Amino acid sequence: MKVLILSFSQNQVNEDSFVPNKIGLTFSCVEECEQELKKLGNMVEHICINKKNVQKCLACGKRGWGICLEEHKCILEDDFNTIYGYMSNFDAYIFISPVYFWEMSESAKTFFDRLKRCDVFHKDSKIRGKKIVCIACAGGSGSGTEETLHSFDILNHFLKTEMAGRIPVTKANFEEQKEVIKKFMLEVGK
Ligand SMILES: Cc1cc2nc3c(=O)[nH]c(=O)nc-3n(C[C@H](O)[C@H](O)[C@H](O)COP(=O)(O)O)c2cc1C
Repeated sequence: MKVLILSFSQNQVNEDSFVPNKIGLTFSCVEECEQELKKLGNMVEHICINKKNVQKCLACGKRGWGICLEEHKCILEDDFNTIYGYMSNFDAYIFISPVYFWEMSESAKTFFDRLKRCDVFHKDSKIRGKKIVCIACAGGSGSGTEETLHSFDILNHFLKTEMAGRIPVTKANFEEQKEVIKKFMLEVGK
C-alpha cells in the first residue's frame, strides 16, 4: 500500500529554520506512523502542509463557487493543486493536526476547506472511498481533542472517505497511544 501522511503543525526548532521540531507532538506522531507503516512494508510519504504555500480559499465566483465546482481545481496558483493531484497516487491517508483552541490548526482548516470544494462534487474523485486515519495532538489538558476529531468526522462525511481510525493524543498519553497508533497503522496499511 502507498500511504500519504499530511501534517499540519507550525512547530519549528527556531525562528530561522523550518526543521520539524522532533519534540513536537505532531512530528512525533508522524514519525511513529511512518515507522509502523514501513515496518509493515508500506510505501510512505509525508508532506508538512505548513512548509507549503497553501493560501486561504477566496470563495471566488458566483454564489460562492469558483472553478472548483466544475473543474475540480483551484484558481489560486500556489501549492494546493499539485498536492491535491499528488494525493491520487496513494491508497490511504493519515491526517495529523495539533489542537488549537479546540479545533484543528489553521493550516489544516485552510487545506481542507479547499480540498472539500475541489473533491466533494468530483464524480471521478481519486480520494473518495479511501481509508483515512486522523490524529489530534493536544497540549496538557487534552481539551478539544474530541472536537478536533469531530471536525475530521465531518470532513470524512463530505469526502466520503472511510474513517479507519480517530486517535486523540496528548503529551501525557503519547506513550500509551503508540499502541493505538500501531493498531490503526495495521488497519490502514493492509
Ligand atoms: C494557539 C494554540 C492553541 C492551543 N489550544 C489548545 C487546546 O485547545 N487544547 C489543548 O489541549 N492544547 C492546546 N494547545 C497546545 C497544543 O495543542 C500542543 O502544544 C500540541 O502539542 C501542539 O502540537 P505540536 O507539539 O506539534 O506543536 C494550543 C496551542 C496553541 C499554540
